[in-house]
Amino acid sequence: MKNISLLIIAVLISILGCCRQGEKVSIVSSPSDKIDIKFFLSETGSPVYTVSYNDELIIDSSGMSFEFQDQLPLNNNLKVYEILRESVSEEWEMPWGEQRMVLNEYNEMIVKIQETEAPKRKFNIYFKAYDDGIGFRYEFLSQKEVDTIIIMEENTEFNLTGNHDCWWIPGDWDIYEHLYNDTKVTDIDAISKRNHYGLAQTYIPYNAVNTPVTMRTEKGLHISFHEANLTDYAGMTLKVDKENLALSSVLVGSERLGYKVKRELPFFTPWRTIQISEDAAGLIESNLIVNLNEPNKLGNVSWFTPMKYMGIWWEMHIGTKSWDLKSGKHGATTENAKKLIDFASKNDIKGLLIEGWNTGWEHWIGFEDREGVFDFVTPYPDYNIDEVVAYAKDRGVEIIMHHETSAAPRTYDKQLDTAFALMNKFGMSSVKTGYVGKIIPKGEYHHGQWMVNHYRKVIETAATYNVAVNAHEPIKATGIRRTYPNVISREGLRGQEFNAWAMDGGNPPNHIANVAFTRMLAGPIDFTPGVFDIKLPTKENNQINTTIAHQLALYVVIYSPIQMACDLPENYEGNCAFDFIKDVGVDWEQTKVLNGEVGDFVTIAREERSTGNWFLGSITDENSRDIIINFSFLEPGISYEAMVYKDAANSHWNDNPTEYDLEELVITNDMEKTFHLAEGGGLAISILKYPKN
Ligand code: NOJ
Ligand code: CA
Repeated sequence: MKNISLLIIAVLISILGCCRQGEKVSIVSSPSDKIDIKFFLSETGSPVYTVSYNDELIIDSSGMSFEFQDQLPLNNNLKVYEILRESVSEEWEMPWGEQRMVLNEYNEMIVKIQETEAPKRKFNIYFKAYDDGIGFRYEFLSQKEVDTIIIMEENTEFNLTGNHDCWWIPGDWDIYEHLYNDTKVTDIDAISKRNHYGLAQTYIPYNAVNTPVTMRTEKGLHISFHEANLTDYAGMTLKVDKENLALSSVLVGSERLGYKVKRELPFFTPWRTIQISEDAAGLIESNLIVNLNEPNKLGNVSWFTPMKYMGIWWEMHIGTKSWDLKSGKHGATTENAKKLIDFASKNDIKGLLIEGWNTGWEHWIGFEDREGVFDFVTPYPDYNIDEVVAYAKDRGVEIIMHHETSAAPRTYDKQLDTAFALMNKFGMSSVKTGYVGKIIPKGEYHHGQWMVNHYRKVIETAATYNVAVNAHEPIKATGIRRTYPNVISREGLRGQEFNAWAMDGGNPPNHIANVAFTRMLAGPIDFTPGVFDIKLPTKENNQINTTIAHQLALYVVIYSPIQMACDLPENYEGNCAFDFIKDVGVDWEQTKVLNGEVGDFVTIAREERSTGNWFLGSITDENSRDIIINFSFLEPGISYEAMVYKDAANSHWNDNPTEYDLEELVITNDMEKTFHLAEGGGLAISILKYPKN
């Protein structure tokens, strides 16, 4: 393990009083000089920035301003009174992650600004230029006789320089569970492209997208817009002005409170980020989002270890079991739990999620008055929690706690301490939370400041109990896992569950080829891969729209420190493909994105931390294709024993999804090999350095 090194290359250089309105342009360039951010004040004294890549503009002159309650907007008559600069090159270690060491290298420019007229308010803009993109944020400073400010809107603009190809989901204040659309910017139509079924969603009346939103320019440059360190602030959507090829921030609001953000002065906003890469693969390898977050505040989190897990879960989604005791087909019984524990233990799967164990489910979906309904400590009578936990412990399996809040966060908040104390009593180190439905109180949204603060409180409270959190229906990932490494994973996309019940036929074959270059840039995903019974016999109009080899590849393509083997034991039993799930790692020394195009295909290889084994996953959309894999990422001079799980000659996501071929290979780092992926297919390879006998 390398030592963390911190190298401040240049100290602060202060340039005082040199900037006259409308004239002076200040520049900060990335360490390799490829990316430039320019800042200047317009003739009327309003802030403007541009971004270029290899001297070509990618963000044209874009404004930055705010509207407040009880204060004049902050958007003109400004002067720059000081500029500070700093360069940083350091490495930090991920306690678990896609890689062990992360290089955090950037040049920063802090622009200090003041109004030229009364009330002469001051604020700062921080710009950071990295080689994989840029970030900027605002700092609101103390004001005389003002403790708190209320932001009615933030107007950060991103003016594009072309009608790029764009991968987007509609702006939604409640849910990110939409299918990705692939259109030109001028064809973004977020209002008619809403395709969420079943859970809460918010139809915002204007054409906006959620972030991350990814684009490809005509010249093939890839850019993705998002935010980092979303703390005590509202989530950002981006409103699309198709005529002017412009995006501008629209914060998620609160109809209950009538504003977007309320903060005590002074404070920082989240970072507004643009990841930039010449190829699509580079977007996935970018560490911009975590780098723009604060270092680990929790110290040693070895009480959580990355793991694979199974669950009393899929049976509920395919309808053969229910969360609800009164349904007559209750899934979370002591007996079922023991069966699953036996299977997990036999197959070296460390975790077992049990949903529907606690009282309240009889009032779940469709029940309006959800406040006070769920209880996070009382098991249903057919589930003996003491017995299940003891049985699991004896067999080396850990029970994963489940807290469905039904979007009644105040009910959950009240029980946080007792709920986490119960987990401590049973030695449970992680919880899956859920927020299905419209938020109570009415007028609050999943992605507004009030909920951002709720999600954070859960994380901070959980941390004091050594509990790790995997939130479903979450706020988007913005790299907070760096600061709070008990934030292990989250949903925040259309997960596997949609294949079981979505009325639109589920996730299409290209879903993860879209997700890998959009949602996954934000952080780990609890997608719950691994369905082998692809055609879902109990669900007439639903199926998985991929081959089995594609399902296997997802364990490598999708990053998460927890990965579910979501299918039922009987569908794994006796199927050799399950060996890949048993073998595949969940915690990585390094990650290489070998190739990919947004929405089409992607191949990722990851080296397991503890063993030096590599695992490779490749997926394609609805088109079959040949993928050339160059194994030069392997250590030279070593013969690796590989097991290849690949689509059979006539595999097809719809016509023949369950057939796959196995191939044993000896692989060395000077090899290159072509593999065929079927329509909706995939490829998974375990490349073992010290093979088991
Ligand atoms: C939605 C979640 O995404 C799913 O995983 C869970 O089973 C249900 N809510 C119930 O909490
Ligand atoms: Ca969900």
